[in-house]
Amino acid sequence: MKEEAISKLKKYNQEHILKYDLNNKQQEELEKQIENIDFEQLKSLYESTKEEKCIEEKKIEHIPYTDKTKLTKEEQLSLFEIGEQVIKQGHYAVITMAGGQGTRLGHNGPYALDTINGKKYIFEIIIDRLKKAEKQYNVTIPWYVMTSKENHQDTILFLEKNNYFGYNKDKIKFFKQGELPLIDTQGKIILDENAKIKEAADGNGGIYEALSKSGMLQELKQNQIEWIFISGIDNILSNFVDPILLGLTIKENNVIASKSVAKANPQEKVGVFCKMNGKPKIIEYIDLPEEMAEELDENGELMYGEVNIGTYLYNRSVLENLANAKLPYHAAFKKSGYLNANGKFIEPDEPNVFKFETFIFDAFTRYDDMTIMRVKREDEFAPVKNRTGNDSPETAVKLYNEKYK
Ligand code: UD1
Repeated sequence: MKEEAISKLKKYNQEHILKYDLNNKQQEELEKQIENIDFEQLKSLYESTKEEKCIEEKKIEHIPYTDKTKLTKEEQLSLFEIGEQVIKQGHYAVITMAGGQGTRLGHNGPYALDTINGKKYIFEIIIDRLKKAEKQYNVTIPWYVMTSKENHQDTILFLEKNNYFGYNKDKIKFFKQGELPLIDTQGKIILDENAKIKEAADGNGGIYEALSKSGMLQELKQNQIEWIFISGIDNILSNFVDPILLGLTIKENNVIASKSVAKANPQEKVGVFCKMNGKPKIIEYIDLPEEMAEELDENGELMYGEVNIGTYLYNRSVLENLANAKLPYHAAFKKSGYLNANGKFIEPDEPNVFKFETFIFDAFTRYDDMTIMRVKREDEFAPVKNRTGNDSPETAVKLYNEKYK
């Protein structure tokens, strides 16, 4: 191995990596990885896992929202027309975040769901919706797909092989998000079964940097895209072409918007909207104290009852401002297979590594306000997160079929 790589490993107490018996190709690949990893950052991320979480002085309040179902027909129509104009003029784009590993699903690559409209891949369901919008607004909406290093090539090949499910391929672009090494409880990087340093996507907050680094931000500007809707691949009812949301956001003079659904019960495992120190914020269920989760407002509704369904609308200026945003990292303790000191691949039964992620919505606190529009859960929220049980392909397909029957 090159002297430079060796001294980098030594400097950051990672010389255990030098003890493996590797062939030339493996050595070369490892060197490349070592060159690209920011070990200084990794060191401080590891230190942060040992720190007690300090509770800053926070003032948390309910966030105001507009209930789409309570808008009058006239109000809906007038907002629709504002949004429709932007879409028809070609100033609207859609981004799908598909950089996650889908580990909770335990699958490799896209798989088909058995829907009322036949066997459909999630990508196909998304493209169906884009094609419908194409007909409705007489414009082919540009579609951007965020992948990660791990699934980038496979995603492109998959869509190519399926002829982009009939969408104009010139309107589809792919861009890769960043990744970070996993580290064990001693702060050591680990190797996978191919003797490569194990890395994972750096969270959906990586989208801001990825858009900028990949040149997509520039391309949005060149194509005169003013509004961008971003949502995750894992909600098969995501309604990402919504003139009413767009019209409402423009009317409210905001540059960020999001949809919500009413929380099903205080224990539902989702993030909820609130205002923290006066700024819009999403609190994940893990961080929401029980008494707050159960708190009611004067109408007997949950005080923090607006669920984040992972659907965000941005004015392009926001994405430009956030291109270099440093978002906080959240550490998660996860299970990950690794090569042990004898070069044997071990699949642990218990969590053994820290994974670091930033969250897309942690950028919202930088803005004074955002538009929140509550929609009907059965219309727009069918998450596919787990292999079985709640939020599984089975429950999502049921919701999809209900909607399209
Ligand atoms: C997410 C939200 C949560 C919300 C819930 C609703 C986050 C951090 N939390 O939870 O507030 O209530 O959805 O279903 O977003 N992704 C990437 N790259 C990554 C990581 C994730 O593209 O590095 C994508 C995933 O493919 C997915 C989306 O981001 O489409 C959200 O994934 P995840 O981070 O797993 O969050 P959830 O736990 O699903």
